[in-house]
Amino acid sequence: MAYYWFKAFHLIGVVAWFAGLFYLVRLFVYHAEANQEPEPAQSILKNQYEIMEKRLYSIITTPGMIVTVVCAIGLISTEPEILKSGWLHIKMAIVLLLIGYHHYCKRIMKQLAKGECQWTGQQFRALNEAPTIMLVLIVLLAVFKNNLPLDITTWVVFGLVVAMVASIQLYAKKRRQDKEKLAQVELASSAE
Ligand code: HEM
Repeated sequence: MAYYWFKAFHLIGVVAWFAGLFYLVRLFVYHAEANQEPEPAQSILKNQYEIMEKRLYSIITTPGMIVTVVCAIGLISTEPEILKSGWLHIKMAIVLLLIGYHHYCKRIMKQLAKGECQWTGQQFRALNEAPTIMLVLIVLLAVFKNNLPLDITTWVVFGLVVAMVASIQLYAKKRRQDKEKLAQVELASSAE
């Protein structure tokens, strides 16, 4: 029974951790783009994003990570045999990368607060793809374990998913560019 409790809270922790990681970097996008706003809007927005980032990191993201890892330790201690599984070793290696990413986000958060971060909104959007890739790999490993299928059907499905994600990104990029062009046209006509 303890095993199921640990697994349930392990998954709850995973959901909170990832919700926090995804939203945190989305806030970085807005924070970086606030530089394009005139004063006093720029300072007001940056202060607000700084508060939101700090709260999100300390109230959702870090506790999500702790619950995930503590419950994973609970799972392993109730069934130590599982430690012999190859899939778990690969999963733990990816989770280590994820923990590194989590701490890297904290560094970026501090740099943004000090006004020392040179990243653009576009670069933060690209950074937000990293946890998506790790999430997909970890969940596939956790579900398929040592039987992760690598046949042609799997690759076709995987290719379709990648193509779908890429087209959503391209569409979002086009919408952003159209919006920027419209804003420039409006600015030029108001200056005339
Ligand atoms: C400290 C790192 C982690 C360790 C040691 C760990 C270990 C485990 C273990 C032992 C199980 C039980 C497997 C079973 O009952 O068959 C499990 C389940 C699971 N884990 Fe993790 N985990 C970790 C982090 C993560 C992360 C970061 C995610 C998500 C991105 C994740 C997603 C899952 C999922 C979806 C399951 C349920 C699999 C199933 O029941 O079929 N785990 N994990």
